[in-house]
Amino acid sequence: MNQLALFGGEPVRVKPFPAWPAFDEREERYALEVVRSGRWWRYTLGEAVDADAASPGEPSKVAEFQQRFAHVQGARYGIACASGTAALEVALRALGVGSGDEVIVPPYTFVATATAPLLIGATPVFCDIDLATFNMSPARFEEAITPRTRAVIPVHFAGLAADMDAILAIAKRHGIAVLEDAAHAHGGTWMGKGLGSIGAAGVFSFQASKNMTAGEGGLITTNDEDLAEICESLIWGGRHAGQPWYTHYRLGWNYRLTEFQGAILLAQLERLPEQTARRRANAAYLTSRLRDIPGISSLEAPDYATGHSHHLFVLRFEAKEFGLTREQFLEGLQAEGIPVLSGYAHSLFRNPMFLDPALGVDGEKYTALCPNSERACRETVWLEHRLLLGDQEDMEDIVRAVGKVHEARREFEAAANLTA
Ligand SMILES: Cc1ncc(COP(=O)(O)O)c(C=O)c1O
Repeated sequence: MNQLALFGGEPVRVKPFPAWPAFDEREERYALEVVRSGRWWRYTLGEAVDADAASPGEPSKVAEFQQRFAHVQGARYGIACASGTAALEVALRALGVGSGDEVIVPPYTFVATATAPLLIGATPVFCDIDLATFNMSPARFEEAITPRTRAVIPVHFAGLAADMDAILAIAKRHGIAVLEDAAHAHGGTWMGKGLGSIGAAGVFSFQASKNMTAGEGGLITTNDEDLAEICESLIWGGRHAGQPWYTHYRLGWNYRLTEFQGAILLAQLERLPEQTARRRANAAYLTSRLRDIPGISSLEAPDYATGHSHHLFVLRFEAKEFGLTREQFLEGLQAEGIPVLSGYAHSLFRNPMFLDPALGVDGEKYTALCPNSERACRETVWLEHRLLLGDQEDMEDIVRAVGKVHEARREFEAAANLTA
């Protein structure tokens, strides 16, 4: 067996994996069209083609993008905005969430899923995840409901659909709005339906790490015309489509997306189907090839999760079975040229912010209530989606490196003895 690269051996791989973002002359062409048009911001609400545009008849890139993206996700309306975080705040506010309300969220997610409620005066309440999927546990969601619960935010973590059947049924019984956090789920489906088109609304992110990106950006999807209008108004400082420019109807933000971002996202959207297919094929291949290595397993893909978008390829790592600590495993793989990540260092509620009594979240109490999330943080390994854009030989390098680290696990003991 070759010596591990960590201890001076030859690495499995020196070649980089595909870079992200991926782009070609389409991004350049569409962005240049915006530069030359002089139409750099989308200053008219509503219509895709604005009669008073700088170049009359020139369609707004943002307007075109939001319609196309919503269509891809199977939603009637798409409202583009500045970020996924902004999308969460706007959608929650549009759903009527506000001061004194509670919003149930999972603890294994990005910070914004829980800070969006706080920023509009509501309180996030954490409920544990299922270890098989890392998504919200419907049973724990139901237990977390109180008379103050107004909304629930299931996250389709890594692009794997949450258990929407169960979540929708519970939410309906209790009169709770369902907002899908689909920040990882571009092109993803649940029972054949686009993620983000199932609950009252969904939110997406186009931040730099996401499967489609303009550096930053977000979008709200919904099938509800009234809700779409309110979201759009909230993003436009409270204005309304077709109404006088200086008439502001509600307290809103400026969360508009620029036309430059709209242009880039149109190009990115054109590439999404091919990239999604490639990510899926490579993820399936990796899953089957890693299956026999003890201590490593990929998450379950329940039947309802018909289309995974693989924002991340998530592995469970069980140290005892594998024979190394997770940190040793990560170090070993990184030295072999595989850029693996450990994921969230701890559950979201353990962030200092949520321990501050002034916020009223009482993060401390959730350590006992959410053992699965705590375990997921200790036992997870993430691969970024860009790795899945490689070819089969690239996937084989990952398999070879994992196999090599497993086979040579005793080298870690030997190295520790030498330095002891
Ligand atoms: C699950 C989840 N929700 C929401 C967001 C917020 O998106 P943004 O970074 O565009 O504000 C992210 C982004 O990282 C995310 O991962």
